[in-house]
Amino acid sequence: MKRHETLPLVPIARGEGVWLYDLDGKRYLDTVSSWWVNLFGHCNPHINAAITDQLGKLEHVMLAGFTHEPVVQLSERLRGLAPAGLGHCFYGSDGASATEIALKMSAHYWRNSGKPEKSQFISLQNSYHGETLGALSVTDVALFRDAYGSLIKQNATVPCPDWRDAGGLENAESYALRCADSLEKHLQVHHASIAALIVEPLVQGAAGMAMYHPIYLKRARELCLRYEVHLIADEIAVGMGRTGTMFACEQGGISPDFLLISKGITGGYLPLSIVMTTDDIYQAFYDDQTARGFLHSHSYTGNPLACRAALATLDIFVQDDVLNANRDKAAIFNRIATPLREHAKVRDFRNTGMIWAFEVDTPHSDFAQRCFTLGLQHELLLRPMGNTVYFMPPYVITEKEMQMLVEHTLTVIDLLS
Ligand SMILES: Cc1ncc(COP(=O)(O)O)c(C=O)c1O
Repeated sequence: MKRHETLPLVPIARGEGVWLYDLDGKRYLDTVSSWWVNLFGHCNPHINAAITDQLGKLEHVMLAGFTHEPVVQLSERLRGLAPAGLGHCFYGSDGASATEIALKMSAHYWRNSGKPEKSQFISLQNSYHGETLGALSVTDVALFRDAYGSLIKQNATVPCPDWRDAGGLENAESYALRCADSLEKHLQVHHASIAALIVEPLVQGAAGMAMYHPIYLKRARELCLRYEVHLIADEIAVGMGRTGTMFACEQGGISPDFLLISKGITGGYLPLSIVMTTDDIYQAFYDDQTARGFLHSHSYTGNPLACRAALATLDIFVQDDVLNANRDKAAIFNRIATPLREHAKVRDFRNTGMIWAFEVDTPHSDFAQRCFTLGLQHELLLRPMGNTVYFMPPYVITEKEMQMLVEHTLTVIDLLS
């Protein structure tokens, strides 16, 4: 709040497509999809209509002892879209609660299976899985963790296959394989106490859009199977087409034991999360004894309005052939972004699907704040992480808007480098 003495909050009055408009009518291109949630633009007419229709039928009912059509339809459609074997959906309200649910369900599975000692988790270095206490126990970002260290369970991390760490000495694939070897060494020693490995497939968002080769997912899947450790794929940020496929796991040709979905699932409209899992895990809880069941509830779990927004979002994927259209869009954006990629002060320009990121050489230690402020003056909502500028725009961005985004970002970077 102290920062806002010099940088007032931006009061947003309305949104349309990729644009946010403030109370004075000034517009900002939402280059970060409002924290990575928006897929098809603000105030999308199709999603608006679905929510409005649902409002006239049922706004909410608890998802305990009751069910409703939107949640059943959504579960069935997700079963058809998710990697093979993930036939069960458990509903939560946001990303962090999905992480909590998966961690609890994994450890509880091992307890129900006579292996209660399997209660530790491993995550990748620089991982981010949310900021509730359980999620922080698998989040490796000191800034978010340190103040709560005494409250958080200590779990191990293994090397992250971010190809930038190879320092140009080996390619992304061989670096990913080397990191997978480190994972294997860790599992060899500790597997008896480990319930699950949790990863952000292909792109570690909060680490600064760290990108890695899909071979890592393949090896991690093999190793988790060999060492009897669950694999949790946190696709809260990277799912719903962000990396170019509906789910990033598809690019590694794998099915995890748990798939976490949130953010874009409602098109960025309403809070909803889903933990998808396998029949094997489901069966471990199917019992007469209540204590063997999975007891985890949130008041708004599976809210019908959120489920309708999600169904409308999935409709758009089909109607507009979004994954193919995005492939073309990404190619166009990469061409338009050439001056950025080749800018003397830009390093490690990278792209996966509809995510772009690069580092800026700058003398300013407060680059992120300056870039945000200057961005606003140039009609852009930019939200760098440290020196990393990234774009994760709504999929409805047009070529003209891409052009403007690149040109204005170049202006901002020239002023700060
Ligand atoms: C990979 C990942 N997991 C979990 C979360 C937490 O989601 P939420 O902010 O909805 O709690 C995020 C949020 O950015 C995320 O990027």
